[in-house]
Amino acid sequence: MAGTRAPEDAYTAEPFVPQGAGLDALREAAAGCRGCPLHREATQTVFGAGNAHGRVLLVGEQPGDQEDRQGAPFVGPAGKVLTRALDEAGIEPADAYVTNAVKHFKFEVVPERGKRRIHKSPSLREMTACRPWLEAELRLVGPEVIVALGATAGKALLGPSFRVTRQRGTLLPFPGHEELGECLIATVHPSAVLRADDREAVFEGLVSDLRIAAEALR
Ligand code: URA
Ligand code: SF4
Repeated sequence: MAGTRAPEDAYTAEPFVPQGAGLDALREAAAGCRGCPLHREATQTVFGAGNAHGRVLLVGEQPGDQEDRQGAPFVGPAGKVLTRALDEAGIEPADAYVTNAVKHFKFEVVPERGKRRIHKSPSLREMTACRPWLEAELRLVGPEVIVALGATAGKALLGPSFRVTRQRGTLLPFPGHEELGECLIATVHPSAVLRADDREAVFEGLVSDLRIAAEALR
């Protein structure tokens, strides 16, 4: 039916984000977000989780297959890598709040691969639509250090020209939040470890970037 669909540039979570709400109320409201089309195919919204006053806030890309089914971030294979890396870097998982730039799983079903749901990267428009949730989480958690895990989170937080190879492992100002000082650090996504030929080297790189975050907390 003509006229019932919002124009694509109107994708935004904004009207779904309750003003003045705490994290639990936000999580509840996010469950009903229809701010972009990704909610249609995914099982559920996967909101951030962890320490509501975490000193470190980690931002991934979007929930994966397991996260979509279980409703919590980083509970699948990438989450195992992340937990191990945090531990080696000296960051207590209990000190951290973990979330994603986009809160619904974007995927395509590939019939030749047994109908497996294959991850698709979110578009800039979807990342922008979902941003109000991330902003609200950042405001309420109030972390000392923010870690962008991989290229999508890096682009979401540092802008579309972000390149992980160029900008990883160093404390950077957070664009739009300069009052926080150099509080942002980017690194590879934990799933890059799982895809790498030399897993150990990529894992060590992740740990060494997370150590910079850990040092910033001292
Ligand atoms: N990858 C992400 O970026 N986030 C998750 O929550 C899981 C996998
Ligand atoms: Fe809302 Fe984000 Fe889900 Fe889009 S991806 S529907 S903006 S929660």
